[in-house]
Amino acid sequence: MTPQLLTFPTGFLWGAATAAHQNEGNNTNNDFWQWEHLPGKTADGSTSGLACDWWDAGRKRAEADFERAAEMGLNTLRLSVEWSRIEPQPGRWDEAAIERYRVMLTHLRGLGLAPMVTLHHFTNPLWLAERGGWLADDVVLRFRRYADYVAQQLGDLCDMWCTLNEPMVYAYQSHLTGEWSPGERSLWRTLRVASAMAKAHVAAREAIHTRWPDARVGVVKHLPILDAANPRLLDRLAAGAQDRLFNGRFFNAAYRHNANPNDDFVGLNYYGRYRIAFDLRRPFTLFGRNVIPPDAEMWDSPWPDREVYPHGLYRAIRRAAAFGKPIYITENGLADADDVRRPRFLLTHLAAVHRAIRDGFDVRGYYHWTLVDNYEWAEGWTTRFGLIALEPETQRRTPRRSAALYRAIARANAITPAMVEEFAPEAMAEIFPKT
Ligand code: FCB
Repeated sequence: MTPQLLTFPTGFLWGAATAAHQNEGNNTNNDFWQWEHLPGKTADGSTSGLACDWWDAGRKRAEADFERAAEMGLNTLRLSVEWSRIEPQPGRWDEAAIERYRVMLTHLRGLGLAPMVTLHHFTNPLWLAERGGWLADDVVLRFRRYADYVAQQLGDLCDMWCTLNEPMVYAYQSHLTGEWSPGERSLWRTLRVASAMAKAHVAAREAIHTRWPDARVGVVKHLPILDAANPRLLDRLAAGAQDRLFNGRFFNAAYRHNANPNDDFVGLNYYGRYRIAFDLRRPFTLFGRNVIPPDAEMWDSPWPDREVYPHGLYRAIRRAAAFGKPIYITENGLADADDVRRPRFLLTHLAAVHRAIRDGFDVRGYYHWTLVDNYEWAEGWTTRFGLIALEPETQRRTPRRSAALYRAIARANAITPAMVEEFAPEAMAEIFPKT
């Protein structure tokens, strides 16, 4: 018999994920702003500019987007607060910035959207960058103070906190590939940054819990699937080495600092799979090279070596479940300006989440990346991840078909065959296999 629907647990969180620098606009006091203004640092030479124009209190564009999310049937939104706004100079706190965040969080709550707040999503205050960023001697202490202040100021409006977004991605992009500020290429320094971030996570979590013992605090880990391109030993060794460095290391470091017993959840960002082949010429990437298997469905630009692989989300959940904590999918999405592939992507990945829940894994919520097209770091404005399309110049918003699909799913708390039939009929057999 073919099941009639895939129903999610009562109280499941349906959300979208966003980030301060990508959405707020005019974040002039952080290192990414400075970086994106240097020649050649972004794919199209563009800068974040007004982004989605969320910061301006008068135009209320954040508020209007939150209303769009509520209308879509969402009951949560993930956003980040910007360290460089809250602490523009070391030890100087900006009350006006806090007030703007209080207005935003209050508005979200009024709409029935539970906020999930991230303290660090890739950007650093300029003053910290000038002291060496995450290599500075006192960075853990500074981050702890910042977390404590934010918890004190905003903790009555938020009870789900992510300390850091994708620490390994940050360390890797900033210190190994050199694609982000400060543009370094050093494995040794990458590992030092990752270790400082593991300590900072624990320190920030303790600061929040001291003020708000019932707050739920976790860290967000990007967990790509890194599989061997072929079963041969050398490929498996290269893939295993990359996996241990990129996926295992942060969790292990956080463990060593006693993170896990007191973390309240694991945040998982999942975007796909890489296939790794051994390559003697690539010492920098632990002798691994990404290959594109002939039969695989790949992403388009800007990440053509990333495979669309819904079952990987199931595998990532199974792996994270070993920590014994509830899991939130804190990001998952596809760059697809024409919205041709996103409906199927959304359905097949949510079906993987559903399978994981059915098999007993404790997944509490899903945040799609992202609500409205936003500024994509070194890719600038070349990619479009939004459920809602944005023209940054005019700030005009237009919902994509995927927004209608996500709305139907969130409102029904389920995926139905009728939804698949309407939005991605080619995925019917994958989502509702005949039994
Ligand atoms: C994730 C980041 C997020 C966005 C998406 C596409 O790695 O957390 O800011 O860039 O990728």
